Amino acid sequence: MRIGLLTGGGDCPGLNAVIQAAVARAAQYGFEVFGIKNGYEGLIKGEIEPLKKDDVEGIYEIGGTMLGTSRKNPVKSEEDVRKVMENIKKFQLDALITIGGDDTLGAAEKLYERGVPIVGVPKTIDNDLSATDYSIGFWTAVDIIADALSRLHTTARSHRRVIIAEIFGRYAGWLALMGGLAGGAHIILIPERPLTLDQICEIIKKREEEGKHYTIIAVAEGVKIPEIGELVAAAAERDEYGHVRLGGVAKLLEREIKKRTGKDVRSVILGHIQRGGPPNAYDRVLGIRLGYAAVDLVKEKKFGYAAVLRGTEIVPVKLSEVVGQMRKVPEEFFDYLGVFTD
Ligand code: F6P
Repeated sequence: MRIGLLTGGGDCPGLNAVIQAAVARAAQYGFEVFGIKNGYEGLIKGEIEPLKKDDVEGIYEIGGTMLGTSRKNPVKSEEDVRKVMENIKKFQLDALITIGGDDTLGAAEKLYERGVPIVGVPKTIDNDLSATDYSIGFWTAVDIIADALSRLHTTARSHRRVIIAEIFGRYAGWLALMGGLAGGAHIILIPERPLTLDQICEIIKKREEEGKHYTIIAVAEGVKIPEIGELVAAAAERDEYGHVRLGGVAKLLEREIKKRTGKDVRSVILGHIQRGGPPNAYDRVLGIRLGYAAVDLVKEKKFGYAAVLRGTEIVPVKLSEVVGQMRKVPEEFFDYLGVFTD
């Protein structure tokens, strides 16, 4: 079999582990793997090259994706769909493995409906895909956030400041929640349970009264402050899947909290640092397991499925069930949000 492999959407640590493992598994079965450059863009343009075991040697521990990625949507125009079909034929690909988040796997689902033999592997640091317990990249990002928050603690305490860290995650609060818990944030703000400005300032004032003159706030980029009521966007333009680029809520909070409490306030946007660098051990192992599972799905000709993590098992789930269902932080987690507040 000849298998095309691509990574789409935002990069994350662990993608290269999937790639190396998929190539290794394919070699065990005598299959050939072809790397498709820059996500669906390379599939449309025909930027496809053989990927041998030697090409991927040792990449499992390197961040990013050696194939490159893009947010190109291959089903946005009929012209692009036609090119995709042509290139699958031209390079004699018997199957595609697409590694991506909701957008990439959503497009994979649509290509599958049009007859493309495709399987998926979920990845996103946001962890907002409901079909999988955790997605590759998430726990590495949590480690990075926890480390950043620990560092902010020492400087905030020294200067008796409020420091607000803005955290990725789009419309879900998983990264802010888990990163905030692991990094000891006194206030964790997530889209699923935002606090009002009054509530936030009350907590800061109470801490002051108790002699705790500094406060760390972890805020998810997708939080709507109730008094303001809108998502804060870094740029107005939308990507090919219709998403605005979020960003800026920490700055807004900085201004408002300073005004209301008189405290010295600073804000930082952790941004793409959360997606960079080597995967942690968890994401390496998960990536390796998913790379194997994806090739196994191809071998079984179980197209239209994704390999996902359920508990400790990797299981096949229909692409149609993986996409379009954003997993939000459920209410039972809300209790933890206050662990370092009181
Ligand atoms: O979906 C992953 C993610 O990292 C989000 O958390 C974030 O909002 C977005 O991608 C950033 O996108 P870009 O890399 O296009 O700036």
